[in-house]
Amino acid sequence: MRRLEGRVALVTGAGAGIGRAIVHAFAGAGACVYIADVNGVAAETVAAELVESGAQAQAITADVSRGQDVAAMLRVVEKAHGRIDVLVNNAGVNVRGDFRHLSDADWVAIREVNLDGVVRVARDGFALLKASGRGSLINVASIMAHRGLRQLSAYSATKGAVTALTRGLAVEYAPFAIRVNALCPGFVATALTQRVLRNPAIEKALVDSTALRRLGRPEEIATAALFLASDDASYVTGAELVVDGGMGAML
Ligand SMILES: NC(=O)c1ccc[n+]([C@@H]2O[C@H](COP(=O)([O-])OP(=O)(O)OC[C@H]3O[C@@H](n4cnc5c(N)ncnc54)[C@H](O)[C@@H]3O)[C@@H](O)[C@H]2O)c1
Repeated sequence: MRRLEGRVALVTGAGAGIGRAIVHAFAGAGACVYIADVNGVAAETVAAELVESGAQAQAITADVSRGQDVAAMLRVVEKAHGRIDVLVNNAGVNVRGDFRHLSDADWVAIREVNLDGVVRVARDGFALLKASGRGSLINVASIMAHRGLRQLSAYSATKGAVTALTRGLAVEYAPFAIRVNALCPGFVATALTQRVLRNPAIEKALVDSTALRRLGRPEEIATAALFLASDDASYVTGAELVVDGGMGAML
């Protein structure tokens, strides 16, 4: 029996990077997956890859920073299944820059996706997770919730808020058999980190600050998400699973 056989999973921001790796891992474990992304073409491409490999997969175009999109996204799954077993808040953006020059518009843009989007999906997805009877809500935060790095303060603030929200929701949702956990990746080469990693000096500094002396791969974050999604983590809630190659352990 595969670990997510018969389960229904929805992952936001699943058209690329870590989210794409997560839906591949979930589908490989037997789940029926919904690939939600603001980039509808990317979501359709990932859905086609999965269907091609024999999985049950469907793309949904949705911007998590828009309330109507989130409601419509959840309605698609409700109509088909009446429940969600695994809900992953993965969509995230970054706006790099010195904090003292951060514009209101940039702050709102990052907060609307990284925090407001998570709040909205976690709140509006409650009834469907409850209907599962064994729901798992996974919020993708970041090691940056716990560390400081130049030009990443606004991003860190949103991720720190997500970890705090995760603890609160773990307590609030436990009576409804919903587990709520945060996943905190270290540095992974994706479109999100492409610009910063293009600078060899920065890449070297990040690798040198990682105990395993390399960046992570999206698949290595996805296997951790699969653990949190599955019954293997049946006694895990309110946790932060750090998958960072030992970056947080380094002096
Ligand atoms: N890459 C890393 O090093 C790293 C480290 C720690 C945490 N994270 C977190 O992991 C998550 C995924 O990051 P990634 O590196 O795969 O990024 P990515 O840029 O490769 O992929 C993000 C996906 O989210 C989608 N997206 C962006 N805004 C959206 C919105 N408003 N609504 C719906 N979808 C939206 C994008 O279209 C894209 O497909 C993010 O929450 C990020 O903060 C990434």
